[in-house]
Amino acid sequence: MSPRRILRPLISLVAPLGAALLFGTTGIFSVACAQTPQPKAPDTIESRVQGCTACHGSHGQGTDNDYFPRLAGKPAEYLYNQLMNFRDGRRKYPPMNYLVTYLSDEYLHEIATYFSQQRPPYPPPSKPTVGDSVLARGEAIVLHGDAAKQVPACAACHGAKLTGMEPAIPGLVGLHSDYISAQIGAWRSGSRHAKAPDCMHEIATRLTDEDVNAVAAWLSTQNAPQNPVPAAAGSLKTPLACGSEPQ
Ligand code: HEC
Ligand code: HEC
Repeated sequence: MSPRRILRPLISLVAPLGAALLFGTTGIFSVACAQTPQPKAPDTIESRVQGCTACHGSHGQGTDNDYFPRLAGKPAEYLYNQLMNFRDGRRKYPPMNYLVTYLSDEYLHEIATYFSQQRPPYPPPSKPTVGDSVLARGEAIVLHGDAAKQVPACAACHGAKLTGMEPAIPGLVGLHSDYISAQIGAWRSGSRHAKAPDCMHEIATRLTDEDVNAVAAWLSTQNAPQNPVPAAAGSLKTPLACGSEPQ
């Protein structure tokens, strides 16, 4: 399918949502039901982010779609950095770029804080679709890294429980394997950037396709821990400098 054929319907879905964000209406619903006058929705952050929930779930928990990520509970500054990355073109996904184009820093921060405070339950982990040796390879890289390739353990920065670290490192539990491998692929191909030094670019380019596959497969089969909050700021000494994380 040509990108146009995918994007057109998406844009027609997102355009009213963008209007909701800018003008504080419930957008898609008021457009769909333009014939009948609707009672005005209260102008709260909950009503304004309704446009996001079609793809990210009612409380940011994610959906069954393999590419629509969970937002809930990720550190606020991480989510804020991503919204700015989409707005300023460091990260590319046209519906997201479009939605945040005209939003101010303050508004993006408010949205980021809202989703960081949501605590919907995690979906059950995926059933493995790869063999045990691939899962074992994935687990080894996540927990111990691969010294020969100078790949640090993912857990060194994303936390022993993989719930991330405040203020700006995201958790890796509750994500689909296709989303994870697409993000690592985007860092390798240069369509996703973080502030320099971009540690994830460094790490992504040291991994082979097989490594990425293995890591994504193992991560997606992990249960979220009992108390899935990000580790406290500064509690982990990151093995590489990351520009998105205050040093
Ligand atoms: C049409 C579906 C869609 C809509 C509507 C949408 N998103 Fe997204 N969002 C996505 C997809 C897909 C990605 C991952 C894109 C990529 O590959 O980088 C994403 C990524 C994100 C990320 C980065 C997540 C991470 O873990 O890195 C944030 C934050 C985000 N969206 C917030 C929002 C907010 C806030 C809204 C409402 C203003 C919104 N999104 C509306 C589909 C959508
Ligand atoms: C040196 C610290 C560090 C290490 C080690 C590290 N990461 Fe990251 N990771 C980060 C930071 C910082 C971000 C946020 C980047 C940004 O702001 O876009 C991130 C983001 C990510 C994301 C994006 C999550 C999302 O919701 O979009 C994925 C996926 C990821 N890392 C996977 C991995 C994997 C897999 C490994 C191990 C092979 C790993 N990381 C090792 C620091 C690290």
